[in-house]
Amino acid sequence: MAANRTQSPHLPLGDRRDTAFYGQDILEVAQFRRADLSYIFGVAREMREMVERIGSFDLLKGKILASLFYEPSTRTASSFTAAMERLGGSVIPISEVRYSSVSKGESLPDTVRSLECYADVIVLRHPEVGAAKLAARYARKPIINAGDGIGEHPTQALLDLFTIVEESGRVDGLTITLLGDLKNGRTVHSLARLLSMYDVKLNFVSPESLAFPDKILAELDERGIPWEAHRELEEVLPRSDVLYVTRVQKERFDDPDHYARVKDAYVITPEILARARPQMVLMHPLPRVGEISMEVDTDPRAAYFRQMEYGMYVRMALLAMVLGKA
Ligand code: NCD
Repeated sequence: MAANRTQSPHLPLGDRRDTAFYGQDILEVAQFRRADLSYIFGVAREMREMVERIGSFDLLKGKILASLFYEPSTRTASSFTAAMERLGGSVIPISEVRYSSVSKGESLPDTVRSLECYADVIVLRHPEVGAAKLAARYARKPIINAGDGIGEHPTQALLDLFTIVEESGRVDGLTITLLGDLKNGRTVHSLARLLSMYDVKLNFVSPESLAFPDKILAELDERGIPWEAHRELEEVLPRSDVLYVTRVQKERFDDPDHYARVKDAYVITPEILARARPQMVLMHPLPRVGEISMEVDTDPRAAYFRQMEYGMYVRMALLAMVLGKA
């Protein structure tokens, strides 16, 4: 949302508690405080109750979401669409920018300034870090970052945290292990930052060349979050309350040989899970490409499909909030 004369566009949300996110962009997890998260999750639970009771309702009747995706998406795009439609609103889907004026060379600022003439909120996924912030500088309407390259994926982190809360009943006191492509995975970048608002221990398990970024590790140090980096999952699995598995992000590799060397670094099988805690929560943002075997899907600890459903409720909550209806 571009600045106007009376307010700066990116005030921390806490400074506008009275308006509860109305008109706000959602760009990165650093804009949230713990109280904001409890509020969002409370609204998400209300959304779940309403969906279970009546399926869809008219809270956002007449509102339009522009869904602008410059990178592939199954869950994020469709859950925002489902969220908007369950709230009675509608969606302009631009998921193949190839067929839009982007292919004629239109800039991101021009594309968002065009879409906001028709829509009330824009959900944007883009391959470049910082794209959502750039769009927000130009747009008058709220921009929701649905992933900016290897940067952040704040709405995924919110739904991941909501999954942890709903599945474990708490966040404080948990040991959470993030596994896989920790260098390029934007979901883990946002999630670790969000978790650093709680009293958690974090483990990072990855091949050396896909290690978690030093910059975010330094942020964790500043916040006093204990963390360990490992190469072998076995070293931390038995003491993990949550295991968050990620895909090796093929599209971020310049060197196909490097990708081939690391792509199968970890595969979660029933045999491996046998060494995990009986109540551990096994998560994955999806899509998976082999890092969790399908035989694991029937294990009650496998939460990744429930995680998707939690995502729709969180996105319903966020849309209602930024459009001033929650
Ligand atoms: C993730 C993403 O796009 O970053 N997918 C998603 O939004 N659920 C994870 C991934 O692509 O590996």
